[in-house]
Amino acid sequence: MKENSIKSIASTSLFFIFLSINCQDLNHSFKPGLIWPDTEGRHINAHGGAVIYFNNIYYWFGEYRLPRSEKDKSRYGVSCYSSGDLMNWKNEGLALRVISDSSGILNPGCVIERPKVIYNKKTGKFVMWFHHELKGQGYKAALTGVAVSDNITGPYKYIKSLRPNAGVWPLNFPEGYKKSSPGDKDIKTGSEEWKAAVKEGLLVRRDFGNGQMARDMTLFVDKDGKAYHVHSSEENMTLHFSELTDDYLDFTARYIRVLPGESNEAPAIFFARGKYFMFTSGTTGWKPNPARLAVSKKIFGEWKSIGNPCRGTEDENKVTFASQSTQILPVNGKKNAFIYLGDKWIPENLADSRHIWLPVEWEKGNPVIKWYPSWNLNKL
Ligand code: GAL
Repeated sequence: MKENSIKSIASTSLFFIFLSINCQDLNHSFKPGLIWPDTEGRHINAHGGAVIYFNNIYYWFGEYRLPRSEKDKSRYGVSCYSSGDLMNWKNEGLALRVISDSSGILNPGCVIERPKVIYNKKTGKFVMWFHHELKGQGYKAALTGVAVSDNITGPYKYIKSLRPNAGVWPLNFPEGYKKSSPGDKDIKTGSEEWKAAVKEGLLVRRDFGNGQMARDMTLFVDKDGKAYHVHSSEENMTLHFSELTDDYLDFTARYIRVLPGESNEAPAIFFARGKYFMFTSGTTGWKPNPARLAVSKKIFGEWKSIGNPCRGTEDENKVTFASQSTQILPVNGKKNAFIYLGDKWIPENLADSRHIWLPVEWEKGNPVIKWYPSWNLNKL
């Protein structure tokens, strides 16, 4: 054989070997609950997060959970991945990182959860909000933090953390709820009496001066460009929907209470078929529980619970296919096409927590989710 043809056979085979390795590496379907390798083969470390679509690319922001072997707590923050097809994700590194060289509160050892990023058309900036807990204080602080960047992938500049809406009453708070009664402080936390009192504003009154608690959160940008910060407040008993300022960097002081006393967290809001829908979970920490669906004609309207959106076996419905909601993601270019994004938490090693992505299907005008061990966008 001539030397040239040997060379060409060798290079063609190399090409095919290269191609087959690359093809094997590509993800061709969503496989909820399994390890989801990024383009470098590592499980995607972005939890409790959300995806946004910008200039033909999807960006996925989430909690970067420190692998158990990682002792350096300064490598902690919010991770960012990019993708053109929602299945193959490139790691863009940490978009927000704790600040080691300061005495500030975004320091190594603090907790950052459920980060969400939105784009502000007026300012041209990307705004990130996240649930922020202080080092060594468990979940006591209940703050929401905000950071901003000119570039979608970051680095995001931390601005501040706060308890929102200090000194203002919710817009839907009856006059009669505004005055404390002398017995308020004697009510036993967790008792039936306490639950009834919470519904009637006990904790809103308690936190009126210093601001309302903010734990699990999401952001929602409405058709008119107004953005809303939605979070579990009042010891996780009631959701608060708060309007953000035009630059999305602060609260306007307009807010409402939603489903008071009903213990919702993990909120995920979307608009479809003329209505606002919200997926939430109950409050059982890392353990999954039955998902809940609520609907409203207006964002600041009357939200009504309409049951569990899961359509699986009884056991699957009880635990939302082992997941907790984090976003309902609109798929670009397809009408009424959404993906349910949930977390299957592994508390012993949070970095290993799995992603449960399922297609949103429709039943009598309402969204439902079913289990598919493997699926792709043709399903939508
Ligand atoms: C969940 C919440 C998570 C995390 C966890 C801690 O209920 O949704 O984001 O805060 O509790 O136990």
